Amino acid sequence: MRRPVVAGNWKMHGSRAENTRLINAILEASDEPACEVIVCPPAVYLWEIGRQLKDNRIALGAQTLCADSQGAFTGEVSGAMLKDVGASHVIVGHSERRALYREDDALVARKFVAAQAAGLLPILCVGETLEEWERGDTEQVVARQLDAVLAVAGVASFGRAIVAYEPVWAIGTGKNATPDQAQAVHAFIRARIAARDAMIGDGLRLLYGGSVKAANAAELFGQPDVDGGLVGGASLKADEFVRICAAATSGRA
Ligand code: PGA
Repeated sequence: MRRPVVAGNWKMHGSRAENTRLINAILEASDEPACEVIVCPPAVYLWEIGRQLKDNRIALGAQTLCADSQGAFTGEVSGAMLKDVGASHVIVGHSERRALYREDDALVARKFVAAQAAGLLPILCVGETLEEWERGDTEQVVARQLDAVLAVAGVASFGRAIVAYEPVWAIGTGKNATPDQAQAVHAFIRARIAARDAMIGDGLRLLYGGSVKAANAAELFGQPDVDGGLVGGASLKADEFVRICAAATSGRA
């Protein structure tokens, strides 16, 4: 049985005070969550938010990392640094990083490896753009993104990772994939990993991301290959986020 996971990607939002308020509200509103919950605040707030998560009910994740471990990489943050300030997870290959900062499949694969080398659990994002979706290229794109990581890191590395399917056309648009659409792509991803190692494919946790909210979470998470969500906008509202976490738990009950 795969334990459900909900990760909140706060992106570049909020101040120190606002993010502290947000995490306190989430902690207050959530009982002992039966699913795994991860929050991913902006890098500069990781340490402080981590202090507030002291009982480890909620895990701390970063939104990206440098592919290199140290040196002359102005402005970058290494996996070891993230680990040092208390992160246990890191998002790798988010579509905003791929599109806005030109992170290609090869760089994403290097970041995946760097995350694991630092002892972090990567949350690898894959997903097609609107154009690719309309052309019917979803499986081809997702396969290419997965294969790039498999080629460098090997299938065993997926035993220490989470994969998030995030159709780019659904991110921040209010337009989520239907549960059937999400399930079809999740099944495809699982089968692709399982073809190389059945046990790792079966145990791999697959999150759906793209306009997840409390109103659609239960239906999405109720799909057999959807093990939770990667939540952007709705993770900035404590009540909404806690309701999404509850849906992840009950969806699998
Ligand atoms: P969204 O973002 O929930 O706001 O669509 C998801 C994401 O970017 O991970």
